[in-house]
Amino acid sequence: MIKPKSVEEVIETARIEEVVQDFVNLKRRGVNMIGLCPFHAEKTPSFTVSPSKGFYKCFGCGKGGDAVNFIMELEHMDFPEAIRYLAKKYGIQLEETEVSQEVREEQQYKESLYLVNEYAKQYFQDQLFLTDVGKSVGLHYFKERGFREEVIKKFGLGFAPDKKDAFTLKATHDGYNLDLLKKLGLTSQYGRDFFRNRVMFAIHNLSGKVIGFGGRILVKDVKAPKYINTPETDIYNKSKVLYGAFFAKRGIRQEDECILVEGYTDVLSLHQAGIENVVASSGTSLTVEQIRLIKRYTENIKILYDGDLAGVKAALRGMGMVLEQGLNVKIVLLPEGEDPDSYLQKVGTEAFREYITQEAKDFIMFQAGLLQEEAAGDPVKKAKLIKDIVDSIAKIPDPLKRSLYVRECARIMEVEEQLLVNEANKVVAYNFKKGQQEKERERLKEEAPQPGDTFPAPPVQPREKQPSAGDEFQEKDIIRILIAGGEKVFDAEQNISVAQYILSNIEDVMDNFDNKLYGQVARSCHERLLAQEPVDTNYFLNHSGQEIRQLAINLLSTPYEYSENWEKRWDIFLSSQKMPDENFVKDSTQALKRFKLKKLNKMIRQNAEKIKKLFEEKSGDYMVYLKLDQKLKAMRNQLAEELGTVVL
Ligand code: UTP
Ligand code: MN
Repeated sequence: MIKPKSVEEVIETARIEEVVQDFVNLKRRGVNMIGLCPFHAEKTPSFTVSPSKGFYKCFGCGKGGDAVNFIMELEHMDFPEAIRYLAKKYGIQLEETEVSQEVREEQQYKESLYLVNEYAKQYFQDQLFLTDVGKSVGLHYFKERGFREEVIKKFGLGFAPDKKDAFTLKATHDGYNLDLLKKLGLTSQYGRDFFRNRVMFAIHNLSGKVIGFGGRILVKDVKAPKYINTPETDIYNKSKVLYGAFFAKRGIRQEDECILVEGYTDVLSLHQAGIENVVASSGTSLTVEQIRLIKRYTENIKILYDGDLAGVKAALRGMGMVLEQGLNVKIVLLPEGEDPDSYLQKVGTEAFREYITQEAKDFIMFQAGLLQEEAAGDPVKKAKLIKDIVDSIAKIPDPLKRSLYVRECARIMEVEEQLLVNEANKVVAYNFKKGQQEKERERLKEEAPQPGDTFPAPPVQPREKQPSAGDEFQEKDIIRILIAGGEKVFDAEQNISVAQYILSNIEDVMDNFDNKLYGQVARSCHERLLAQEPVDTNYFLNHSGQEIRQLAINLLSTPYEYSENWEKRWDIFLSSQKMPDENFVKDSTQALKRFKLKKLNKMIRQNAEKIKKLFEEKSGDYMVYLKLDQKLKAMRNQLAEELGTVVL
């Protein structure tokens, strides 16, 4: 741990403009400095640094903070890491509180592993550039494949000679511990070099340290694998690494997109062509850890697939995870027989760039189109296809995006949109329920329940006066249904309750209730569901919060006999009939739609303000929001149409 006094010293010493200037070109503009924002892509500078106040602020994306925040944001470091970074920059000696012997030994052990790997990388590089055989075999091979020297150096490529233990002997002779060489997989159990007669690819972690290697064979040999890689070690865990990530970080952030390819050479080729936001999964299917790694930098991922349909279909099956993490996935299918490297080298940078822009298809649409072709004229296949698509769509955490996809897919697959909506909502609610059960199991594991334990009621805040033109009526409708029929069956087959259905579909706007009390009820229902407690009328009638109790009584005792005008005026579903049990399904579906319509309208308004603001600031970014505006309006109109309401 760094001592607080050292932390203070760093914070006092670091000058925001000096820290930022290492990454951003700043120009004076009065008392401030201004430049292109490193956190989002922009062409006109809206990133401002105030040396006197000691902070930065981007008027485009809204990011802002002091020097430490800047480093944390930009380099994805935690606080101590950022402090260490700044201390190094300013040559400040940090004083540390004592760490335990154990922790220190662990740190030292890892440091020495990195050191040995760094040594090995240098060795392979020297072999490549300085020895006759390295030059004539290894370097020749790379150059033949079109790689320029600066890229070969940047990525730490090398050559392992065809000798049984040349590396191991040299390393031990230079004082490196044989045990560590073995621990790193560089030397076999029997003291032989692991990599022999291969061109070498150093694999770096996010901070640029060498954690492992890949070695490619130079001859066509059916028996030996084309690539061999460092086995799992204490610093190399295949499933957590993306090849090229260290060199791609900045590009990914700048483009707000990560291009994913399969191979080492694909990364090199694209990088060399100036497409720097590229990483490789190294031939394996994506893992959750890798996806999370990408997500630290962007939510947009573009996957380039070799043009082999069977392979692509297999790969698509693994994509659920990516969707679940909320990433936007685009797919580019390369022409038959080409991988990104070969295709780029064949058609050149310009054509390649154009191809991967033009041919990029949204993942779900791509899947829908692909399967549609396959299932044409076969109703059984088609039913299965609908299920597959619905499963994919249901994995998307954002309900707004989900509805967009439903529309598009219904169009592509030529099915009733309402059918897809219903199916997708059911799966969403089902997944939500499964999630609840899993959480519950975990909770039970963690804490043994005490007899008589009850769910604590949330503190009730005094109700504020609300402007009546807000979304209160739609919110009230939702709350009324939750209170009157939350525990009723929504879907018998999947055993989903009305409350589960509604809450799983409004999770994202839970904090956006105009009416505080309604919001509170919704949130407490949500918490009860997560804790596997029933959401039924009695819960509300006996609620410890007086206001909630009163609300429940009011809502339950109001006969539904509002005047027709109300229905028109407030755009709310007010069936004058009593609510027989069969009506809960229809009732909650409708109420949900009206609620969403309101929230959509609100988003459209907020977005319009944003557009206006950006436009006035002359920021080119407003185009993005214009597009969003179109999308939102299309969704709104669709919903309105379903509800039979006229939108002006
Ligand atoms: P590919 O076979 O597509 O190779 O494997 P490539 O990247 O196009 O390589 P070149 O162009 O023939 O040199 C894709 C990735 O799968 C992993 C490697 O990471 C490779 O880059 N792989 C492949 C292995 O780990 N072992 C193998 O035997 C083959
Ligand atoms: Mn290749």
